[in-house]
Amino acid sequence: MQIVLKDFTKSFDGLTVIDKLNLTINDGEMLALLGPSGCGKSTTLLAISGILRVNGGQILFGDKDVSNLPSQKRNVGVVFQNYALYPHMTAFENIAFPLQVRKTGAAEIEERVREMARLTHIEPYLDRRPGQLSGGQQQRVALARALVRRPDVLLLDEPLANLDAKLRLEMRSEIRRIQLETGITAILVTHDQVEAMSMADRIAIMDHGRIQQIAAPEDMYHRPSNTFVAGFLGNPPIVFLEGKAIGNGAFESASGMRMPLPERLTGLAADQPIVMGVRPEHFGVKGRHTVRGTVSFIEPQGRETHFDLTVAEGEVLRSIQAARTDISLGSEVEWPLDVDKALVFDSEGNRL
Ligand SMILES: Nc1ncnc2c1ncn2[C@@H]1O[C@H](COP(=O)(O)OP(=O)(O)OP(=O)(O)O)[C@@H](O)[C@H]1O
Ligand SMILES: [Mg+2]
Repeated sequence: MQIVLKDFTKSFDGLTVIDKLNLTINDGEMLALLGPSGCGKSTTLLAISGILRVNGGQILFGDKDVSNLPSQKRNVGVVFQNYALYPHMTAFENIAFPLQVRKTGAAEIEERVREMARLTHIEPYLDRRPGQLSGGQQQRVALARALVRRPDVLLLDEPLANLDAKLRLEMRSEIRRIQLETGITAILVTHDQVEAMSMADRIAIMDHGRIQQIAAPEDMYHRPSNTFVAGFLGNPPIVFLEGKAIGNGAFESASGMRMPLPERLTGLAADQPIVMGVRPEHFGVKGRHTVRGTVSFIEPQGRETHFDLTVAEGEVLRSIQAARTDISLGSEVEWPLDVDKALVFDSEGNRL
């Protein structure tokens, strides 16, 4: 089911938090709504679910305007981070609940609950109450309950936030598998870029109630439309160097550090203020420019190591390299910088 938000507007107590947001979620896709705390992700999701009413604009499910339909009439499945399972009911009863409310026959309930339990891999636990299940198992029950009515759209608000790191990893691929197996249109709200990158077909990244960019994960990472998007994706994050073009295809940072511009931007006019963005994977491995400096931070990560390099002018560049032990804090090094991979932005923050 295709979902369309047209000029969706939402305010609380006269304060507009989302102003004319436009967004299309394609039939069968998983779209991640990504952004920092307070940017309006949950508000958008709650409006799609019908729990919150819109103050302006429209929400369409297929051709149908559902803006004024109550939640029960929208046929959506919702999963929140706290699962919200009924503690006194078994997993079976929890999953069956939405069908019981609809007065579905006992035989059909039995069949549909078993089908969902198979899909979410919780068949052995159907007789247990939530208190007797692990966080991951509870989340599977919540998913089964959300899907049992065969909703048109699955809405997930930070579904992995309560799980420990290992379970989060496992449930990431599980939720994606279940979404692909059912072919359901899904919206995943998250502030975790890794979750969005690894689970979604496309990401819509929001800031202050506005969508900054909508793109496939790889696209967004390599071609961010502005500094906000570039800074939000990537860990350790990109380093921004403010400065200006100085002619002859070169850049000079505010503190005087010089480097070539990427090949395709050598024509930038001298004195044009710009921001160079250098991702850590493009510094310290290969490249046509050499940067000399002092290693000022080392963070071993097992398979790889993160470094900070402080240059004479005072700028700090970040580098990520395969694990190496030949370098210690304070080492003087000369590392290659792949300037052609650098992202360049204008003074407004838009990528050039
Ligand atoms: N019921 C409400 N009454 C008043 N303001 C609200 C209400 N719900 C949300 N807001 C405000 O709307 C803005 C968006 O909130 P929202 O919950 O959508 O953010 P979010 O992106 O989901 O953040 P988080 O990642 O912290 O969950 C915030 O400024 C918030 O304070
Ligand atoms: Mg939220």
